[in-house]
Amino acid sequence: MTLDDVPGWFNADDQALFRVLLSWQSETQRPGDVVELGVYLGKSAILLGELLAPGETLTVCDLFGAPPPGTGHDSEKPRSFESLERSEFERFYLSFHARLPVVIAAPTSEILEHVEPGSARFVHVDASHLYEHAAADAAASHTMLRSDGIVVFDDFRSAHTPGVALAVWEAVLRDGLRPIALTKKKFYGTWGDPAPAREVIAAWTQASPHHRIDRQFLAGHEVLRLAPRKPKPEQLQ
Ligand SMILES: C[S@@+](CC[C@H](N)C(=O)[O-])C[C@H]1O[C@@H](n2cnc3c(N)ncnc32)[C@H](O)[C@@H]1O
Repeated sequence: MTLDDVPGWFNADDQALFRVLLSWQSETQRPGDVVELGVYLGKSAILLGELLAPGETLTVCDLFGAPPPGTGHDSEKPRSFESLERSEFERFYLSFHARLPVVIAAPTSEILEHVEPGSARFVHVDASHLYEHAAADAAASHTMLRSDGIVVFDDFRSAHTPGVALAVWEAVLRDGLRPIALTKKKFYGTWGDPAPAREVIAAWTQASPHHRIDRQFLAGHEVLRLAPRKPKPEQLQ
């Protein structure tokens, strides 16, 4: 089985960028833990598990079919998560790894009961699309991450996820989150210095036949936007 056989929404660009950033962290920084909010069948968790360094912990959190907490969730279109079984996630994960990660079957609002403040080097937020939940996930990510840690928000700009967009850009403007890079689906940022991670991404794209970056400046923040490299005219013939 390969990652392509696991159902999910974790595309090749983000898989590549996760590999680049998590490997760079392992090679140049002290160990730290990794957290995922919203696991589904494990497509992204499986890659996170592969990129763990010895002694590091991956913690994943999902409702696994339980109803979401609080009010307002009926405004989110029903998605295919109500029938999600924890055992299905575990089956896929164990096709790739000998041991399961720490699995928290609960709303993401409970994640701080399970992860120490300042302990994470990488947090992937891919759970609820509702503004209230996404904003709480952003705040929890800030608490869980160490100062040079990286957070990734999925669906920060899909047409049907304005609540995630609002929560992410609000964290930038009001809570000091600094953008590193944007892909088609994901926002990569840090509450520390974004420059080293940006340099790593820029160097990687320079060597990549498939990717390029353009640099944008948003409210004083430099942001790298990952884009496909256009083929040279001779390659089009
Ligand atoms: C888009 S899927 C995750 C996809 C996965 N990261 C991947 O790349 O394949 C979103 C997941 O978030 C979970 N979820 C949604 N709202 C949640 C909440 N409030 N707390 C915990 N999990 C939640 C759903 O059960 C679903 O499994």
